[in-house]
Amino acid sequence: MCTDIFDTQFPSVTPHIQSFPHPLAIEKNIQLAVLRLDLVHPQVSGNKWYKLKYNLTAAMVSGADCVASFGGAYSNHIHALAVAGSYLGIKTVGFIRGQQPKVLSPTLKDATEMGMQLIYLDRQTYREKHQFEMQKVLESQFLNNTNSVYWVPEGGSNLLAIKGTQEIAEYEPVKQFDYIFAACGTGGTLAGLIRGAVDQQQVIGVPVLKGGGFLQDVVEGFLRDSGFRDKKQWQLWLDGHWGGYGKISDQLHQFILSIEKDFSLPLDPIYTGKLVWRVLEGIKHGEIPSGSRVLMIHSGGLQGRRGFPQYYK
Ligand SMILES: Cc1ncc(COP(=O)(O)O)c(C=O)c1O
Repeated sequence: MCTDIFDTQFPSVTPHIQSFPHPLAIEKNIQLAVLRLDLVHPQVSGNKWYKLKYNLTAAMVSGADCVASFGGAYSNHIHALAVAGSYLGIKTVGFIRGQQPKVLSPTLKDATEMGMQLIYLDRQTYREKHQFEMQKVLESQFLNNTNSVYWVPEGGSNLLAIKGTQEIAEYEPVKQFDYIFAACGTGGTLAGLIRGAVDQQQVIGVPVLKGGGFLQDVVEGFLRDSGFRDKKQWQLWLDGHWGGYGKISDQLHQFILSIEKDFSLPLDPIYTGKLVWRVLEGIKHGEIPSGSRVLMIHSGGLQGRRGFPQYYK
């Protein structure tokens, strides 16, 4: 699929690898680094750039006059979709979980300013969001002046998304690492990384939600459905969620602030902060062999820090 229109609007910047000489890694003789996907584009950053690239191209090629998706009030995916849609001149609709808040989150405020139409769904309807029948109901109820809707799932994860996230692992410098670590929400980023990894690499996902074991089936499904079922060199570390999705303690914020101060590495508390913390725990407890080369994927999400103004300026 030719992604010229997307590439012109969002010129690809090859992400750089930042060395992360944390004392724990030095002590264990582990070469630790971070792939700064958060810097690929100022607004459509991190894994979102890769997930949206083929999806928005497909939407434009199909002639759809609207792209619709789902997310919470701080969703990085909703934010990136709104920005990308406005740059590409595509109408976007965000179905948001829960009631309309009295004061819009910075994420939803930006989305509105970018021209995204926001529609709030009660939790029961939201649970059924990916069912074909429910999407037809939503179309007839809210999008009846639209001829053709291109639906993108919550978090942006589908087969076209993982075609994009595969390219992250295919950057030449990424191939030099023994381990690739990424935070997981809906599993699309991890599935793409696994597809793109070379045989001697291990890809490890750290779910940021409690009970993330279901992602085993989700990721296997993505691999199977895209012809990559033989890729087996991956695993999930299920205990890095800090109590659940969006559960954040003062300790985690302080950890993030200290990493930023000491290593000039800004992290977000929902995804990348939990990832970096869990990888350092893994190094500390010998889960990663001495002498390994370890790469963590900075999947972006920094816009979400605005939900915590007491910690992040
Ligand atoms: C910043 C950030 N990192 C990681 C993830 C997790 O990616 P995935 O949903 O593909 O597992 C997300 C959600 O898409 C995210 O917004």
